[in-house]
Amino acid sequence: MAEPSASTRPYVFVTRELPGDAVQRLRSAAQVEVWPDQEPPPREEVLRQAARADALLTLLTDRVDATLLDGAPRLRIVANMAVGYDNIDVAAATARGVLVANTPGVLTETTADFAFALLLAAARRVVEGDRLARSGGWRTWHPSFLLGRDVYGATLGIVGLGAIGRGVARRARGFAMRLLYFDSQRRPDLEAELDARFAPLDTLLQEADFVSLHVPLTTETRHLIGRRELGLMKPSAILINTSRGGVVDQQALCEALRSRSIAGAGLDVAEVEPVPAGDPLLDLDNLTLTPHVASASVATRARMADMAADAILCVLRGEKPANLVNPQAASK
Ligand code: GLV
Repeated sequence: MAEPSASTRPYVFVTRELPGDAVQRLRSAAQVEVWPDQEPPPREEVLRQAARADALLTLLTDRVDATLLDGAPRLRIVANMAVGYDNIDVAAATARGVLVANTPGVLTETTADFAFALLLAAARRVVEGDRLARSGGWRTWHPSFLLGRDVYGATLGIVGLGAIGRGVARRARGFAMRLLYFDSQRRPDLEAELDARFAPLDTLLQEADFVSLHVPLTTETRHLIGRRELGLMKPSAILINTSRGGVVDQQALCEALRSRSIAGAGLDVAEVEPVPAGDPLLDLDNLTLTPHVASASVATRARMADMAADAILCVLRGEKPANLVNPQAASK
């Protein structure tokens, strides 16, 4: 990429091409460079760009850590086009007075739709059926061909009753599902609204037919679902993860799926993305795997890009965006 030229205009580096007119709007207030490739910019390129940037618009594939921040003396804001921000060392940013923004709200319903799509697909073996139908495996109608699990009337355990977890709960009510939830805090207000019962995590895992994960990845939630937790689940149960791969111990999950100690899983996220060729996960027929696309609808991706750009425009105008994860950094 071209060396950014010296300019009195603020400089913004955007780590990928964005849908909609977010970049155009940024250009009205700043000099903007956009990384043009499908693949993320190499680390050295991000460091080089950050060194002179007033703002960065990042994706969840871009690591923003103390090293980057120490080499970015002008940086005022990192706007992450995602609701999750585990790719950013927020404490390091706060300590250096750098604001961090994310994109909550705009992707809630789209992501909840997808979590439910994965749940249905995994329960009814939709993707496996598609594979068989295309590869000569559809020989006849047989009473015991491709039997799945009923969703209607089953028990759903939601881990993390934030906005997306609540969206999934509302959808589950249309399927007459019994709802259990676990969260770091009990939400009696929502229990009545969603007809959901709080349960300790172990109880939820023991009772649920489907477990859907909706927690951010933090030091507390890393490997929240490990070998012990998977061992508590019913052999007929299905695990759905649209949060972050690191919330599940993937090796333990792989073993549980291979030994059929749980019936299946639907994953939109993995500990290493993309899942590398040769990974044992890829051999499992009881896994429905999608490439981290839960928020990927035309309208929602444009809204996410806009929201991230708006946060930057706000800061460049000297205002404080509403979607900051570390508003306290402003007083540094
Ligand atoms: C996507 O995973 C997001 O955090 O928005």
